[in-house]
Amino acid sequence: MQFENKVVLITGAAGGIGIAAAKAFAEEGAKLALVDLKQEPLEKAMASVDAKDKLLLTANVAVEDEVKAYVQKTKEHYGRIDVFINNAGVNGEFKNITEQTEENFNNVFGVNTMGAFFGLKYVLEIMKEQKAGAVVNTASNGGLLGAPGMSAYVASKHAVIGLNKTAALEMADFGVRVNAVAPSGVNTQMMRSIEKNAMGDNAEEARTAFEASVPMNRYATAEEIADLIVFLSSEKASFISGSYYRIDGGQGATSV
Ligand SMILES: NC(=O)c1ccc[n+]([C@@H]2O[C@H](COP(=O)([O-])OP(=O)(O)OC[C@H]3O[C@@H](n4cnc5c(N)ncnc54)[C@H](O)[C@@H]3O)[C@@H](O)[C@H]2O)c1
Repeated sequence: MQFENKVVLITGAAGGIGIAAAKAFAEEGAKLALVDLKQEPLEKAMASVDAKDKLLLTANVAVEDEVKAYVQKTKEHYGRIDVFINNAGVNGEFKNITEQTEENFNNVFGVNTMGAFFGLKYVLEIMKEQKAGAVVNTASNGGLLGAPGMSAYVASKHAVIGLNKTAALEMADFGVRVNAVAPSGVNTQMMRSIEKNAMGDNAEEARTAFEASVPMNRYATAEEIADLIVFLSSEKASFISGSYYRIDGGQGATSV
């Protein structure tokens, strides 16, 4: 029970990685604050999560006031925030840069980068006062590598890696650690959307091609990502900060 009575705040909680992380922290004794866009899918997703306490909060992470509100409500309910999983994200539409639109770029940046920034802004203020805390930002291998058609997503996740490093440096004196995970394809709704974006009706073909690009020849499971998130949030990672962790079946080893 590494997280007995610890307060863990997770955004994008109704999605694949969010649900797996919520379950993994609940198994370790955590109390949860869970944020997603809409109440009904969030309730449905969290029904199977057996935690000591579950606070369900709706917010659009791209809107600063809504982020401020979910952080304040968590603090009001639990009195503190020990762990923050800054995880909500969208993939956006596939378009090469020459066809890329301002709208798509802004939408993806609004959620992935501004959403992550707002979350850090308000949660770190609380952790700084506590002089304790751990943050895990969900970046992506798209935060480390290019991907044709995904300029908005790739740029937004590169920005998350930059935020991650800077936040870690700013919080180093306050006992707060900040790290990121950088997964390759994970078997969640997001990959279904990416497969459809890439190949339309031939989504199954896209899946085979994406999986074949991974040396271990498959997507990650959401549970595998959750295990790394839990480790980075735990005392076992007490000297790890400002780092990002590839979790990609060997894919990162194919580049410098
Ligand atoms: N699935 C993958 O292949 C993969 C790979 C690398 C990184 N990631 C990252 O992991 C994170 C989680 O993705 P996932 O695979 O669980 O996808 P998912 O689509 O299953 O979950 C994403 C969740 O974020 C929520 N969300 C989206 N926009 C939001 C907003 N504006 N405000 C609040 N919540 C919002 C969605 O409602 C959804 O529940 C994302 O940041 C994603 O970019 C995913």
